[in-house]
Amino acid sequence: MASGETNKTKHLTGIILAALIGIPLFFYLATKLFTSGAIIDTASPAMTQEAIAARLQPVGQIKVMEGGAPGSRSGKAVYEAVCFSCHATGAANSPKFSDASVWGARLAKGYDTLVKSALNGLNAMPARGGAPDLTDDEIKRAVAYMGNAVGAKFQEPAVAAAAAIDPNVKGKEIYQAVCMACHATGVANAPKFGDKTAWAPRLKDGVENTLAKAIKGLNAMPPKGGYTGPDEEFKAAALYIINNAK
Ligand code: HEC
Ligand code: HEC
Repeated sequence: MASGETNKTKHLTGIILAALIGIPLFFYLATKLFTSGAIIDTASPAMTQEAIAARLQPVGQIKVMEGGAPGSRSGKAVYEAVCFSCHATGAANSPKFSDASVWGARLAKGYDTLVKSALNGLNAMPARGGAPDLTDDEIKRAVAYMGNAVGAKFQEPAVAAAAAIDPNVKGKEIYQAVCMACHATGVANAPKFGDKTAWAPRLKDGVENTLAKAIKGLNAMPPKGGYTGPDEEFKAAALYIINNAK
């Protein structure tokens, strides 16, 4: 009995001691780490306001692109969102939009070379106009839009509607961002992803019917599942779910 008590007391003393030393030590080391510059060295030249601003710039310059799903935006939409910032006025000696006198020599290089310049950048022209999210086809369309404004007859790549809303790409992305919240686990009795038994009765009147109901909303399922993009994109997400429940 007595030795048991002693052991308990020893054990307890050990814990208290460890806490007394350990907790302050932890805070001391944590403070040291955060203030010593081990993580952020505020004195480094890389951390001056200018250096930070310069690094943020390419991101800050990107405007939120409207006019369609990524990959499907028109040359005009891309031009107006991105290229416009320099080419409208000829900033940084960029060839000015619709000014045939400055484009002549450039058009002579041919569409492919111009596209290459726009993709990779050229002197003060940043790669993809500084908007890395633009797809190659979107850049090609913007180059065609700019070239055709000064008389070229560039054939821009068509918007591959099917590719832009491929259920396995776009649909999956929307599913993960929006639909998964309910359909992964079956929240509010949502038919679960991959659950054939739950989906079969919903598909018996045809997929188009199911899609139409889901677009309108159905009991606890909000219209388009709360997705705010175009119907075609919602359908891609629904097809992604449906194709995985067959
Ligand atoms: C930050 C300013 C800036 C932005 C934004 C910009 N450009 Fe440019 N662009 C330039 C400059 C400067 C040149 C001239 C480069 C040179 O010849 O030295 C140029 C040249 C070009 C050329 C001619 C290339 C050649 O080979 O002669 C094309 C085509 C072009 N830009 C397309 C675009 C497209 C498309 C976008 C939008 C996606 C865009 N630019 C956005 C500055 C810009
Ligand atoms: C807030 C939860 C919730 C979200 C988010 C949600 N759903 Fe649903 N969904 C439901 C529920 C609940 C049902 C079953 C409705 C019923 O039959 O009462 C359902 C049913 C469906 C159906 C079957 C409709 C029918 O005719 O039986 C489809 C298709 C569907 N959802 C697609 C989607 C897609 C695509 C998304 C994402 C863009 C999405 N849902 C997001 C809750 C949700």
